Amino acid sequence: MPRFLAGFLVVSGLLGAARDTVIFDTDSGLFGDDGAALVMLARSPAQIAIQGITIVPGNVWAPQGAEYMFHILDLLKRSQLTVATGAESPLIHTTAMSKEFDRRWGGLGYTGAFAQDPAAVIPAPGSKLSTRKARRDAVNFLIAEIERHPGEITILALGPMTNIALALRMKPDIETKIKRIVFMGGNIRVPGNATPAAEFNFWFDPEAARIVLRSRIPKKMMFGLDICNLAKIKKAEFDQIANVRSPITDIFREDLGNRYPGFLKKPDAIGYMWDSLAAAFLLDPDFVTKSESRYVDVQTTWGQFYGSTTPLDRRATPAATPVTVMLGLDFKRVFTLYKNLLTKAE
Ligand code: RIB
Ligand code: CA
Repeated sequence: MPRFLAGFLVVSGLLGAARDTVIFDTDSGLFGDDGAALVMLARSPAQIAIQGITIVPGNVWAPQGAEYMFHILDLLKRSQLTVATGAESPLIHTTAMSKEFDRRWGGLGYTGAFAQDPAAVIPAPGSKLSTRKARRDAVNFLIAEIERHPGEITILALGPMTNIALALRMKPDIETKIKRIVFMGGNIRVPGNATPAAEFNFWFDPEAARIVLRSRIPKKMMFGLDICNLAKIKKAEFDQIANVRSPITDIFREDLGNRYPGFLKKPDAIGYMWDSLAAAFLLDPDFVTKSESRYVDVQTTWGQFYGSTTPLDRRATPAATPVTVMLGLDFKRVFTLYKNLLTKAE
């Protein structure tokens, strides 16, 4: 083999090995933290190969989530990426249960899709409904990709874990073929944000989160509220991004400015990086300064603590692998990464 060709193969092999193959599982609303996470990864092609986007109900129902994803992908000029919906609802939790929860115990904060009409799909502001249709086979897509690339797929789970849990139930032997799951969800030493006890992604589908946490997936990296509460976006941070004009920063401005947390109406509002912290971990893991290994479970008994994060009873689940719980960060470092990628000129 000519020497230059051998050299090329070695270099491209090294580059290939460094790239993370990612399935992006999301409950994206108009933009928010899920949309920012997608922009960060899509703009890091030397490090990340996005294999496909699977949509799960959470912030919005899945057809609406797919519509918002198509819009963000169009803005990124990545319209060819696979988008698949899967589960149409959580495994057990329902709108009726969440209403009854509020009647009995109160304290219900954000309820995401439970407050919305599952049949309604609206376009992103200022645009028309996409002509694209999402595939409907997210669960089979997850299984097929994991089987096609054993030991190589990182699942970035940014919403409730319904699709992932269904995939693990349909094909339990994929558990050990997944490289790792990096997820946003749960709360260990801090209060919840959906109820006083539970974080939104775990609360929306506690049974699904339990299936994933009790699984044998070799590495589980948790970005719960304990670390996410340390990555606040205030008006000063919002302005650094919103004042740079581009299609991506315009939708960032529209969503964080006029919807959640509403900086343009409420300059004292506070937002959080949430899912974009988990995405940042794929690009620069060293921004995490403190973590610990724990066996983690979720409360699935319906009551005031439904969806809260609990210790795992290992006698009942001896095969479960531990979770690396992220607890501390270098905010300046991770915010700089987030800002640079959101404002990057294309
Ligand atoms: O608790 C934060 C999570 O819920 C994030 O995934 C965010 O997108 C919200 O829906
Ligand atoms: Ca999310």
